[in-house]
Amino acid sequence: MTRKFSDNTLLVATHNAGKLEEVAHLLKPFGVKVVGAASLELPEPDETEDTFVGNARIKARAAARATGLPALSDDSGITIDALGGAPGVYTADWAETGNGRDFLMAMTRAHDELVALGAPKPWTAQFRCTLVLAWPDGHDEIFEGIAPGHLVWPIRGKDGFGYDPMFVPEGHNVTFAEMDRWEKNKISHRGRAVQQFVAGCFG
Ligand code: IMP
Repeated sequence: MTRKFSDNTLLVATHNAGKLEEVAHLLKPFGVKVVGAASLELPEPDETEDTFVGNARIKARAAARATGLPALSDDSGITIDALGGAPGVYTADWAETGNGRDFLMAMTRAHDELVALGAPKPWTAQFRCTLVLAWPDGHDEIFEGIAPGHLVWPIRGKDGFGYDPMFVPEGHNVTFAEMDRWEKNKISHRGRAVQQFVAGCFG
């Protein structure tokens, strides 16, 4: 049985303003005050686990411990079938340059590895998002969302972020970067995980 949310305030353990806005938007009907980690100047812990849930747990537990508030964190990435699930939890790392993140470089790497392997098309892939809600007493609940699709090259679209310009979600002809942001959020891995969270903790 999922523990219900009965507090007044939810801490969203992210420094990403877009993620915060998305959670706040979906929780509006429930009258919960949503605060972000940045406004409380919480430190960002190292993500040392090799699973999405492991890393999401680190972030949620650290935030709940530091503030005494129930804290929601997310960890996400893309898994590419022909690459054995890579980059997976290393999705952001593939974009690291030592001087900021370069997602064109990361997408080019994914494309080049698929071509080098002679991977047959469609290049199926999934965006994955794991949310962990941790309470200060140590209890936590896990919610997952998956957006299946395939990768295209050349990349298309100017909206979104990260690997959006190379990802076409199942049942669509456009990439995430060609979709309206709120349309994307309805079917995205993160949107689906947040819907699970709302159904589980507020339903
Ligand atoms: P993190 O969970 O914030 O560490 O993010 C993992 C990485 O996955 C991000 O840096 C993005 O590159 C990628 N990612 C996660 N969600 C999305 C998405 O909706 N679109 C594009 N890239 C994403």
